[in-house]
Amino acid sequence: LTLGALAATAPAPELDASTQDNLKRAVARKAVELVKSGMIVGLGTGSTASMAIEELGKLISQNKVKDVVGVATSYQSRVLARQFGVKTVDLNDVNHIDVAFDGADEVDASMNLIKGGGAAHTMEKVVDSIAKQCVILVDQTKVVPELGLTFPVPVEVLQFALSPVLRALVGLGGVPEIRNALRKDGPVITDLGNMVVDVRFPEGIKNPAELENKINMIPGVIENGLFINIAHKVLVATKDGDETAI
Ligand code: 5RP
Repeated sequence: LTLGALAATAPAPELDASTQDNLKRAVARKAVELVKSGMIVGLGTGSTASMAIEELGKLISQNKVKDVVGVATSYQSRVLARQFGVKTVDLNDVNHIDVAFDGADEVDASMNLIKGGGAAHTMEKVVDSIAKQCVILVDQTKVVPELGLTFPVPVEVLQFALSPVLRALVGLGGVPEIRNALRKDGPVITDLGNMVVDVRFPEGIKNPAELENKINMIPGVIENGLFINIAHKVLVATKDGDETAI
């Protein structure tokens, strides 16, 4: 199966939470086989990336790889790395990333992504985009024929600029919603101290590269969750146990 074939068979089957977790675990195990001794590894954020951090920790504790360090993309991944025995360094203390593992909310047949379900897409984009190999780990429910039909585009926004940014996003045809604004615990604040606006594009996203640039051109936008031409490989765990490497 190729990514294109999987995308064409969407909508993907509904999976119960435990099946989905098993698929994520399988793909995380497969991914860390790419790590060699001495590598600098980008550590993504989210439940799938967390499993990859855990699996990497196992390889390190079993001495299967040595002198590996991680660069975390969030507090969450930094804390997990510490918990699972993966040493971390600051991005500014390294001059490259050998391989980065990350999850995604949607993947299309061209390996373009929507990310940011965990509000970490700004740091993820920095790390994933400089990795010599950016490996995305998903189960088949994330593979879609067109980005944006089900998942909104997360946009990290400077709090000071929220109103004008919301108006500009409407001007681009989006339907923006501040993440968790209506909950009693209030809006999501990212690790970088900003707000997250989830923007629906009800007609889908015909030209993701153009939209990525247009959103980022709005003053006050820090970064959006469209990842275009960043992924080098997508590992898809399917219900039948197949893993598709692209
Ligand atoms: C965090 C992300 C995550 O990688 C994405 O939301 C997927 O998460 P999960 O693996 O839990 O489904 O982009 O900002």
